[in-house]
Amino acid sequence: KKRIFSGVQPSGKLTLGNYLGAIRNFGMLQDEYECLYCVVDLHAITVRQNPADLRRQTLEVLAQYLACGLDPQKSTLFIQSHVPAHAELAWVLNCYSMFGELSRMTQFKDKSAKHADNVNAGLFDYPVLMAADILLYQTDMVPVGVDQLQHIELTRNIAQRFNGIYSDTFVMPEPYIPKTGAKIMSLQDPTRKMSKSDENANGFILLMDKPEDIMRKFKRAVTDSDASIRMDWENKPGVSNMLQIYALATGQTVEQAQEAFAGKGYAEFKPAVGEAVVELLRPIREKTEDLLKNKDYLEQVYTEGAQRASYMARKTLDKVYRKVGFIKR
Ligand code: TYM
Repeated sequence: KKRIFSGVQPSGKLTLGNYLGAIRNFGMLQDEYECLYCVVDLHAITVRQNPADLRRQTLEVLAQYLACGLDPQKSTLFIQSHVPAHAELAWVLNCYSMFGELSRMTQFKDKSAKHADNVNAGLFDYPVLMAADILLYQTDMVPVGVDQLQHIELTRNIAQRFNGIYSDTFVMPEPYIPKTGAKIMSLQDPTRKMSKSDENANGFILLMDKPEDIMRKFKRAVTDSDASIRMDWENKPGVSNMLQIYALATGQTVEQAQEAFAGKGYAEFKPAVGEAVVELLRPIREKTEDLLKNKDYLEQVYTEGAQRASYMARKTLDKVYRKVGFIKR
């Protein structure tokens, strides 16, 4: 079986973009592939986190993985800091990653502009830790949204460099980007991606948002003055974004969604998208709330997950240590 790895940061609440761009696909890949899904808490501390919030958010992401249909019998679900091999491989890969290439990462440039008072070495090194996550499990495919493509390209470059020096060590991973949903845009500025760090809370939908909040945000969503409802990213990004969301939420193609609203107005369209999203998220929210009441079960899932992951990770790390010339202990 081919192997899949992906991760989500517990740096806040998950958005509809996280779900449609990534987590939804994690579930669909479970039967066909051997999957590992991680809550990447080591990545989260590259920006300041309140410790109590980080603990809560980490469990919340795990609960949401389960609520979105990830099955611990099929997939390995774990917390990154529980498997020390991630940090260990990251150190080795640091020595095969170039200052120049890391300086070119757009996420680093964006984040260091945004957190100018805390441009720490971890923020700079973030993509190398991500490369370690992926390469540690000899991953074939990495399901992510478009914003992570550059990091996967870098991962491939690091792998190729290491393999070139020491002979084949790492499997070369491929990105897995969904055809629809790989970039869900902000409801307030549809030229920017939907992000929980948006200062305008009307721009994003959280998986845990209440139905009335979801409806309000869609009713206020930015459209344009030409009232027709059609896919046209260039001229109608707000409408195209909502058509895409509607299609994904109802299991239709964007063409079908477009047809359903032909000749209708925004006053009908926006609440219809809102309702589709309410129904999509309702079971996820309810299940997450239930799971968060059962801390023992969550602990069992992440404990077993870490055991399985550690075993696989150790094999790669041993190989890497041997290749670079460390003495076996
Ligand atoms: P993170 O936590 O920012 O986001 C988790 C996943 O959600 C996707 N995503 C989106 N997709 C579509 N539209 C959006 N508006 C949107 N916003 C976020 C992201 O592309 C991502 O797939 N660096 C990663 C976490 C990570 C990782 C890894 C991923 C660490 N190690 C190894 C894959 C493999 C991140 O910050 O994702």
